[in-house]
Amino acid sequence: MVHPLRLLFHVLIFIGLVAGEPQVPCYFIFGDSLVDSGNNNRLDTTAKANYPPYGIDFPKGVTGRFTNGRTVADIIGQLLGFVDFIPPYATVTDQVINTGVNYGSGSAGIREESGSHLGYRINLDTQLLNHVTTISRISALQNNKTFTAEYLKKCIYLANIGSNDYINNYLIPTRYPTSKIYTADQYATVLVQQYRQQLTTLYNLGARKIAIFGLGQIGCTPAEIANFGTNGKPCVEWINDAIKLFNDKLKHVVQELNSDHFNAKFTFINLTSISAPQGDVSVPNVPCCQVANSGQCVPNSSPCLVRALSVFYDGFHPTEVANTIVATRSYIALSNKDASPYDISHLARL
Ligand SMILES: *[C@@H]1O[C@H](CO)[C@@H](O)[C@H](O)[C@H]1NC(C)=O
Ligand SMILES: *[C@@H]1O[C@H](CO)[C@@H](O)[C@H](O)[C@H]1NC(C)=O
Repeated sequence: MVHPLRLLFHVLIFIGLVAGEPQVPCYFIFGDSLVDSGNNNRLDTTAKANYPPYGIDFPKGVTGRFTNGRTVADIIGQLLGFVDFIPPYATVTDQVINTGVNYGSGSAGIREESGSHLGYRINLDTQLLNHVTTISRISALQNNKTFTAEYLKKCIYLANIGSNDYINNYLIPTRYPTSKIYTADQYATVLVQQYRQQLTTLYNLGARKIAIFGLGQIGCTPAEIANFGTNGKPCVEWINDAIKLFNDKLKHVVQELNSDHFNAKFTFINLTSISAPQGDVSVPNVPCCQVANSGQCVPNSSPCLVRALSVFYDGFHPTEVANTIVATRSYIALSNKDASPYDISHLARL
């Protein structure tokens, strides 16, 4: 028989582990629909996901997340030890703002105009302005400027943006002139230069632990396969080639940011490496839900039954299962191809 005190001791340890402190005091998320957790719900845009069957596997149901369950940013937050999901900027209250804010906005890009044909969106420059507002709020609550500056340095900052500068800009020549102005290589250069300035702004606002996600293989999304065809290949190869130019330049910029700012740690997450098929297993690139022309799920339609067997939930966005793989391997990388120079668990400890 177990001694009651001993049992109590084990129960207390268990509670301590489960409800332990997160590894960092706060976590801020910048990006697009891959991380949006409801910021677009009240905006005048068609780029929103606050209707079923989105959220069908999420504990709180429909929230505005563009997937069936948790986003990559949600899962990384849990791995970091946050018990509650980081609240969207649109609704964050003073009670919880000090643990971080999610600024992500569906259809938003690095460039101001990206996604504009879908309606309003919070582009990265505006997300950074919103972060200035957040810092003022935290600073007022903490009431000690030195303390707040030290506090913000300990947080994890995640940036996952750039897909809409392709999907909802460069790849729509009838609405956006960028593909007439720039070759794919030139476009990748101007995008990455602008992103570099925005990341420097984030650094100047006190961020010191910054995880930057490269872009996924947009040429393998069901929507772009349907738009452009694949010539018998599994994916639209010229789109993936354009994305690779962006990713290679972005990784280089991450290295430069690290050498320019010795007191900060930037890291690059390689989605191409993380989402490469393991062994011979290849999952077809078809959406789980019924998609409309927009690539989003048809409202109130019934999705596929076994979500765990699908990579894509709608025409563009991964399922929770795919998000779990990405989050897990960016948190603990299987090799330095997944995340370099640090994975996120390492970034948290630095
Ligand atoms: C403000 O915070 C700093 C750093 O944590 C601390 O050393 C200092 O004592 C604080 N000042 C006041 C007035 O509490
Ligand atoms: C990402 O990983 C893939 C697959 O391992 C590799 O081919 C590519 O060069 C990597 N990209 C970057 C920017 O490191």
